[in-house]
Amino acid sequence: SPLHPFLNKLPKAEHHVHLEGALSVPLLFELASRNNIALPKDDAVFASQETLSARYERFTSLDDFLHFYYIGMSVLIHQGDFEALAWDYFQRASADGVHHAEVFFDPQAHTSRGVPYSTILSGFNAARNRAQTELGISTELICCFLRHLPVPDALKTFDDADVQASFSDGHIKGIGLDSSELEYPPNLFVELFEKAGRQGLRRTAHWGEEGPASYIASGIELLGIERIDHGRALADDEDLMRRVAASGTMLTVCPISNVVLKGVPSIKDLPIRKFLDAGVNFSINSDDPAYFGGYILDNYCAVHEAFDLSIAEWTQICRAGIEGSWCDDARKSEML
Ligand code: HPA
Ligand code: ZN
Repeated sequence: SPLHPFLNKLPKAEHHVHLEGALSVPLLFELASRNNIALPKDDAVFASQETLSARYERFTSLDDFLHFYYIGMSVLIHQGDFEALAWDYFQRASADGVHHAEVFFDPQAHTSRGVPYSTILSGFNAARNRAQTELGISTELICCFLRHLPVPDALKTFDDADVQASFSDGHIKGIGLDSSELEYPPNLFVELFEKAGRQGLRRTAHWGEEGPASYIASGIELLGIERIDHGRALADDEDLMRRVAASGTMLTVCPISNVVLKGVPSIKDLPIRKFLDAGVNFSINSDDPAYFGGYILDNYCAVHEAFDLSIAEWTQICRAGIEGSWCDDARKSEML
C-alpha cells in the first residue's frame, strides 16, 4: 500500500498482545531442545518447525488455537527464556513504530508447571528495561487470569505473596482475563475483579471475541472493566455501543486474530466503520503475532486495505490509543 510508510511512522500504542503469543516457532523449538521439553510425540504436527507453522495457518476457533498456545509456552522455563521472548516482541514492535506497549502474560500457565512467578517477572522486567533504554519504548505489564481454570485457582494466584508484591511495587499495572470465553461468563469473576479494584489495579478483560454483547455489558457492570479486549460483538447491540462510545471506554481490536480464529470471514466484515461512525474508541493490535502471521503493522495495513481510512482517521485512531493508554500523562504528552 502507498500508505505503508505513513502507517509505519504513526506513533503506535499496542494494548493487546500476549507475550506468550509472541513465541516464534524457531524460538519454540530452540527452547524445547535446550530445556529438554518433549513436544507431543503422538501429534505429527510437532514433527518439525515446518509442520507446526503449517498447522498455525488453519486454526478453526479460539479453543483450537489455545491448544497450541498452551503447548507452545511449556518450553518457557528459565528467566532468560522469558526475557528472550519479550525482547523478541519489543524489537519487532519497535520496527513497526510502537512507542508504548501494554503487554499481557498468563502466570497460571507457568506456575502450574512449577515455574516460579518471580522467574517470569524478572525475565520480563529485564526485557522491559532493555526496551526502554535501547529502543525508547515504554511498557506496562498486565497480569491475566485464565477463565478455563477453576476460579479458586485465579484467586489463589492473585493472593500469592510474590504476585501481591508485584502489584504493590508497581511492576504490574493491571489485571486482565483471557482464554476460552463462551462457557465462562463475567459473573464468575466478580470477586477477583473486586479485589483488584480495591488495590487500585487497572482492569480489563477479553469479551465479545466469541461471546455475545451481553458479556461486554456484564463485564462493564459486574467487573468494573475500563477497557474491553476484542469487543467485536459490541457492534451487535446499538444501544450498548452508544453507551460505550459515550463513556470513552476503549476496545482493543485484533483484526488478523479475528479472521485467523474464524470469528469473521474477512477483515472487511469487522465493524471498524461502525465503531468510527458511532465514536467508539479503539486501538488496533496483534494479539498473538507469532501464531497469527502478523505483527501490529500488518494489522494496520490489513485494516487500511479493507476500509481505506483517511489520514485524519488514522491520526485519530492513534491519538485515541495514546489517550486510552495506562501510562502517566507526561508520557502521553510526549507521544501526542
Ligand atoms: N482470546 C482469549 N485468550 C487468549 C487469546 C485470545 O485472543 N490470546 C491468548 N489467549
Ligand atoms: Zn487476546
